[in-house]
Amino acid sequence: MKFSILTLFPEVIEAYVSASIVGRARQKGVVSIEAINFRDFSTDVHRKVDDSPFGGGSGMVLTCQPLESAYESLLPLQQPARVLMTTPTGRRFDHRFALELSEAQHVVLFCGHYEGFDERIKTLIPEMEEVSIGDYVLTGGELPALSIVDAVTRLLPGAVQKFTSVEADSFYDGLLDYPHFTRPAEYKGLKVPEVLLSGNHAAIEQWRKAQALERTRRLRPDLLES
Ligand code: ADE
Repeated sequence: MKFSILTLFPEVIEAYVSASIVGRARQKGVVSIEAINFRDFSTDVHRKVDDSPFGGGSGMVLTCQPLESAYESLLPLQQPARVLMTTPTGRRFDHRFALELSEAQHVVLFCGHYEGFDERIKTLIPEMEEVSIGDYVLTGGELPALSIVDAVTRLLPGAVQKFTSVEADSFYDGLLDYPHFTRPAEYKGLKVPEVLLSGNHAAIEQWRKAQALERTRRLRPDLLES
């Protein structure tokens, strides 16, 4: 699977995707990730990528030309493809969305900046979908894009050593994850639940299921309703 990230800050993307699990998945060839500076595609003499909004108001708006030209340089996309732009007005990114994206061969991510995109980019690139990572406003789309790359990459076969750990994680089965403990069995008088030391795998499994359910009921009852 391939990610193409169109951004004004490719160095921010590169730094994150070179490290840890995503970095290793990249090295193993599970995923390929390229960061493209759409400023390089600006036909403006000063390589401008933004302008002030018609109608007045604060901030700058990303112009269509560099974005469209950068996108055209990627064509044809590997199919099936998804094309996304990061914006607080988009569809909320969640586990289901991540699973959908993990089915694609090519995911293109446009990182917004300033006041966002010229609205006409959605007509010029009709396959464009809008995605938000939550109801708050960030200064740019790099963190949203990286959140998406990270969440999708770990769902790909071979990215995480044991896929059972991905399946057991929060949201995979619609529940929050159960609590985890490691050595020592007692720390400052705090003991690990006895059942986890019992070696009884059926009992451990049952305890974890009950804990996941209790936690979800207490912390995220909305997940049980849906
Ligand atoms: N750009 C700024 N804020 C954002 C958000 N919450 N999600 C996606 N893109 C954004």
